[in-house]
Formats: sequence, structure tokens, C-alpha cells
Amino acid sequence: MSHQHLEALDVAAIREEFPILQREFDGQQVVYLDNAATTQTPDPVVDAISDYYRRYNANVHRGIHHLSQEASIAYEEAHDRVAEFINADGREEIVFTKNTTEAENLVAYSWGLNELGPEDEIVLTEMEHHASLVTWQQIGKRTGADVKYIRVQEDGRLDAEHARELITDDTAMLSAVHVSNTLGTVNPVSELVDIAHEHDALAFIDGAQAVPTRPVDVEDIGADFYAFSGHKMCGPTGIGVLYGKEHLLAEMEPYLYGGDMIKKVTFEDAKWNDLPWKFEAGTPLIAQGIALAAAIDYVEEIGMDRIRAHEEALAEYAYERLAEFDDIEIYGPEPGPDRGGLVAFNLDDVHAHDLASIMNDYAVAIRAGDHCTQPLHDKLGVAASARASFYIYNTREEIDKLVTALDDARQLFA
Ligand SMILES: Cc1ncc(COP(=O)(O)O)c(C=O)c1O
Repeated sequence: MSHQHLEALDVAAIREEFPILQREFDGQQVVYLDNAATTQTPDPVVDAISDYYRRYNANVHRGIHHLSQEASIAYEEAHDRVAEFINADGREEIVFTKNTTEAENLVAYSWGLNELGPEDEIVLTEMEHHASLVTWQQIGKRTGADVKYIRVQEDGRLDAEHARELITDDTAMLSAVHVSNTLGTVNPVSELVDIAHEHDALAFIDGAQAVPTRPVDVEDIGADFYAFSGHKMCGPTGIGVLYGKEHLLAEMEPYLYGGDMIKKVTFEDAKWNDLPWKFEAGTPLIAQGIALAAAIDYVEEIGMDRIRAHEEALAEYAYERLAEFDDIEIYGPEPGPDRGGLVAFNLDDVHAHDLASIMNDYAVAIRAGDHCTQPLHDKLGVAASARASFYIYNTREEIDKLVTALDDARQLFA
């Protein structure tokens, strides 16, 4: 693999910072393989949250007092930290949201409802998460814009020719997932963005599975909007990021109205605050934003290149181990640089929920269901799948435990 020259992660040292991984159920240590849903939170990030509440908890932007000043500086600087992490131009381009889903909705409501009409088309991929698929589908219904889907091929990759056919001068918005949370496919997002731009369409990239697992440079990708969630990258729940090009955010209407997002209010009208505060109405996610910056410090210190290499190696190993069984169907591309660190599969006709429940008897935590990609599962011809997903603290031995548990499940259902 291309990244093998990178020094391997010191997984044993990393695990020490995640006390939750020591938990046992019925005498068995937990094997946490549900990282695409949410990752665990290391001590330094928990400490950042507790430090905030113990030492400088106060509301931001409104106080003259010391505590409010400290909180405001830390909260504002967290935006700078995010901007630096994904190579945005500055805090003006970084809006804190609750999660990726809210970031999609912000753009869909604020830009979509105002700009789209029956003459427009929205292009998505068949592997979109519901966060993007349902949001744009509903905005399409409300504005009359048509929604089209770039086909997913048998091998789990997007059909590039179909993308070129679908994205036309009628396209107003392309919204595509960077790394699929079901297939593991790493999509060629900068090429998709280029095609959208050739037709004067905007491009929104859903980076929920990408930002935690690989270096992401929004300038390189060129997307107009890019979104991700803190809780999938060692951060807390309740914090997500919408990156948007400054000139677009500047032109867009606010998504929520209220305190903090205004500069001047009269009984008749109001003027909006500067970016990004115009999009952060009310008391914002102060502790969560500060903790997100701590999570970024944490993963960057490990190194995003090394995290990607670790993910690819574990995905390859899991894929190979699961492929040993001819009654297991694995979804998505074969291991390689365009496959992220998760593997969704089915064992014969055993329902994925039953599988996950048996895995749980071994304290192996996996996901079962449609992973918020129902239309993709319909296309795959299954109602659900089991999914194992990996992060910085996972090991090959844990994948072996998964495979042993699967083997036992097979005997049970035989
Ligand atoms: C690809 C993708 N997009 C969007 C989301 C939604 O993230 P959140 O639930 O944090 O809004 C997820 C999370 O499951 C995801 O995997």
C-alpha cells in the first residue's frame, strides 16, 4: 500500500487515553468497532471540557467580565483552529453547527430555498447519507427543483461517465459524500467539484467520514461547502462544522434568527452580524467548540497521514479475513487507497440485527441496520447490513475477535 512507509501508530499508548476501552461486559473487554457512528473521546478532550466548566464557563460575546472574555477568546479561536485544520481562509468561513446534518440543512434552507426553482436540478449520488439525501430531496419538493442521482457501480464506485452526463448547465447544486459510510468508497471529490464548477453549479461535500480519517484540504478540493461532525473524530457530540466560501456565506440569508447573529435591531428591521456569527444564533456550542479544537490537536498530533494509513491497513485486514468465508457478502470496493476504514457485510440470510446481537454477546460492538442509506441498501437488494468501522485505537486482534464471533454465529444459525 502507498502509505506503508509511515511509522505505525503506537496503539497501546493511544488506548491508554481511552479508559472506556477497558470496560468489560460479562468478563470480556469491549471491542469497539462502531466508529463510523461515533468515536470514543480521549482524556485530553474530556479534560478540555471539564477545564472549561471548572475554570472559565461563561456566555460568549456578551460579557465584559474576565470569565466571559476568556470563554469568548477560546470559542472564537476554536474557529481559527478548525480553519487551519482544513485549510480554510479563516474563521469567517467556519460556522459551528450541531453536526453534519445541521450543516446540510443550513445550506439547503438558507441557499436552497431562496435560490432554487423548477428550472434547476440538484445532483446527488446514490450513496448519499440521509443527512444529504433527505434534505435535498425535500428542498427539491419545496422549490420544484429536480433531484438526480449519480449511479453507484457494482464495484461500489461512482460511475464517472454518468456523473458527466447528469451534471449539466441545469445543475444548481451537486452534493456528494466524500467517504461513504456504507461502502467505504473514497469518492474523487475534487473531480466532481470541477465538473460542477464547469457548469456554474455549486458543490457541497459531506466529509463526515473523511475529515476524521485523512488529511482534508478544502482549498485543494475546491468545494463551495464542506461539512463534518466532531463526534466522529474524538470530539464531543453536539458540534459540527460547516465550511463555506466567504463570498457565498456573505450573500446567504441566516438560517436561524435571534440573539448574537445581529449587529443592529430596530422595531422594523435588523442587520446581520459579521461572519461566521451571522449563522450562530443564540448561545452557541461553547464547550463543544472548544473541545473540538482539543480533538483536532489530538488527532493532528498523531498525524492525519498516519491515521489514514492505519485505517487502510485495518480495512484491508478485515476485508481479507471476512473474504475467507464464501457465505459473507462484503459491500464496496476492494481494499486500496479509495477505500476507507469500514466494512459493511452480510452473512448469508442472517439478519444483520441478529448478527450484531450475537457480536454483543462477545462484547464486540458493531452497527446493524441501513446506516442512514436506505435507498443504497434497496439498490444492494438488502434491508440491512452489519458494519465494522475502525479508528486509531483498533487492532488486528480485535478484528480477529470479530471473525471468531462471526464464526460462532454461523454455527448457531446453521
Ligand atoms: C457520511 C455521513 N454523512 C452524514 C452523517 C451525519 O452525521 P451527524 O449524525 O453527526 O449529523 C454521517 C453520520 O453517520 C455520515 O456517516
